[in-house]
Amino acid sequence: MPTLRLGDTAPDFTQESTQGPIHFHQWLGDSWGVLFSHPKDFTPVCTTELGYTAKLADDFRKRNTKVLAVSVDPLDSHNGWVGDIEETSGVKVNFPILADPDRKVATLYDMIHPNANDTLTVRSVYVIDPKKKIRLVITYPASTGRNFDEILRVIDSLQLTDQHSVATPVNWKQGEDVIVAPSIQDPEVLKQKFPKGIRAVKPYLRYTPQPGR
Ligand code: BEZ
Repeated sequence: MPTLRLGDTAPDFTQESTQGPIHFHQWLGDSWGVLFSHPKDFTPVCTTELGYTAKLADDFRKRNTKVLAVSVDPLDSHNGWVGDIEETSGVKVNFPILADPDRKVATLYDMIHPNANDTLTVRSVYVIDPKKKIRLVITYPASTGRNFDEILRVIDSLQLTDQHSVATPVNWKQGEDVIVAPSIQDPEVLKQKFPKGIRAVKPYLRYTPQPGR
């Protein structure tokens, strides 16, 4: 299975989950999606990650984004672990966790890196857009919990830059100035697209207030 790259179509699959069978593309519908793997149930880092993700339910909903976790552990293990996640985080786990003991999803998404561990999934994150294209790939080691605020930040950037001719600078957050696409040079087009004005630091580095706010 070749490595999945940005712009590739996210592989479709059907797999069991804590909320019943998931037909991935059908389940995504017109939403954005976050598919993320964790190495193992009943482990400390994973417990904090899934609890925090549950706390972000409203943030993902606001961004029209569905969240789906996966590991190679079976369904009965996931079902038992969900109780611990809810107890330790204080919130309901409102997203499904795929049970992937046959490694169908792990294989399709290249989530097992044998030189790190030959049976457990690494901490992968795929962000998928409503056209089912892969827009972000992140891989973290088992010992390092991910930053889910960063995943929200990238979704904000992707949704903004898909709509406007802009890019987002280092450490950008909602509401901060953005970068005007260098390809736009026509002064009339610039005026029409960026009525709030442009601040040029260099000819190729031009800022404008975030459009649409
Ligand atoms: C954890 O989630 O704590 C973990 C999982 C697998 C290996 C190491 C840590």
